[in-house]
Amino acid sequence: MHVKVLEEELSSTLNSLVCGFHQLLDLKDLNTGVHSTRLAEWGMRVGQELGIPEESLHDIEMAAVVHDIGKIGVPDAILNKNGPLTEDERALMNKHPEYGWGVLRLFPALSQTSLITLHHHESFDGNGYPGKLRGSEIPLGARIVTVIDSFDAMVSNRPYRKGLPTEEAKRRLVQSSGTQFDPAVVKCFLGIVDSELPAVFAAVSANSNLIF
Ligand SMILES: [Fe+2]
Repeated sequence: MHVKVLEEELSSTLNSLVCGFHQLLDLKDLNTGVHSTRLAEWGMRVGQELGIPEESLHDIEMAAVVHDIGKIGVPDAILNKNGPLTEDERALMNKHPEYGWGVLRLFPALSQTSLITLHHHESFDGNGYPGKLRGSEIPLGARIVTVIDSFDAMVSNRPYRKGLPTEEAKRRLVQSSGTQFDPAVVKCFLGIVDSELPAVFAAVSANSNLIF
């Protein structure tokens, strides 16, 4: 009984911590709550479909929310720059997975979430960063976050551009399957995206002030 109470306290503390990180991202205007909440919903659904155990699903859900936390360490002039980044600026921007990992790894219960954060810009073919990991060397949670984050970014409206139609975003996932993306994750996502899209949007609007 005592262990169960402690587990519940830890789980509640973790959720508060992740909500706090999420609010920090919002203060820096790096993420809309809706984007993060959608990613958490997609992460759970893709993970379940791939047969990932419950405890690991929660790591993916948390990583879906906080994976870009390291952007807090990137200067605003680079984050908000209109136009292409110089080589030096790009190098600084590409540090954000390591910055995020550096913060999250301080919390032992977030060790898996920190690893997903560290590797969420790796490419399946080994051409990503920071570790140039390839294939199954990349944590599965990171391979999932890469796919769902890319899809959600493509279909989302931005101040400077309109989001792509869903069909075009799906086509681009297929186009980069095996190079940027894990083909198994793309296949799984494409298998559920049409049927789950309404449920994801409904869940997000029902929980617009709540992540977990
Ligand atoms: Fe990122």
